[in-house]
Amino acid sequence: MDNRPIGFLDSGVGGLTVVRELMRQLPHEEIVYIGDSARAPYGPRPAEQIREYTWELVNFLLTKNVKMIVFACNTATAVAWEEVKEALDIPVIGVILPGSSAAIKSTTSGKIGVIGTPMTIKSDIYREKINQLSPQMTVTSLSCPKFAPIVESNEANSSLAKKVVYETLAPLVGKVDTLILGCTHYPLLRPIIQNVMGDQVKLIDSGAECIRDISVLLNYFQLNHSREVALEKHRFFTTASVASFREIAENWLGQTIHVEHVDL
Ligand code: DGL
Repeated sequence: MDNRPIGFLDSGVGGLTVVRELMRQLPHEEIVYIGDSARAPYGPRPAEQIREYTWELVNFLLTKNVKMIVFACNTATAVAWEEVKEALDIPVIGVILPGSSAAIKSTTSGKIGVIGTPMTIKSDIYREKINQLSPQMTVTSLSCPKFAPIVESNEANSSLAKKVVYETLAPLVGKVDTLILGCTHYPLLRPIIQNVMGDQVKLIDSGAECIRDISVLLNYFQLNHSREVALEKHRFFTTASVASFREIAENWLGQTIHVEHVDL
């Protein structure tokens, strides 16, 4: 048993989609979350800068005595996960491998789509991981630079969101039977994405898929929390406005949370 918290990092509010799944599937675990909304989106930034920012988030979480770090961000996973994982002596979980395995399991035609930030798509990491596991899969990738900013500005339910999602995803419609939401911000746009792609397309939430890996590692290293955690124990930090983060977070999580501002 280990009653230290699990640390989550993201460029902003996207990692909350992973947190919601963790709260549902592993309600005993305590959470420390850092979202770097002041510098979001990460996706269009150069790799070296994303790497530097990710290390700042990791170092912040380490000051909170975490027992494990979850990269609740595909972009940070694509750029820095391997390196951080090698450097730390606590488990570090990324979202790309779990999303890749889930897509392989889901597809019947072998035609998988991936949507993500410019960096995640440029890195081509989903294709690489999927084809390492299963070379016969065809992966079609599409960069969606406008999606994360829409979610960060709390416009995921707006008519602008509908228009942007419809226009951006047009090239993928009818081409795949499984679509990986390769950015943790995208589950907030899920109803619109599903509507545009059609009900027959299976959407894979890469963040939600990583909860199984977290659970396996907690069991394997005997790191499980020993009792249910009171809601007020969870701590959420943002580098930008507390009010804006809280509004999006409480809507998404369906509960009141404790949010603090931090300058990195
Ligand atoms: N939520 C992030 C991801 O999963 C990054 C979005 C961004 O900041 O560009 O890739």
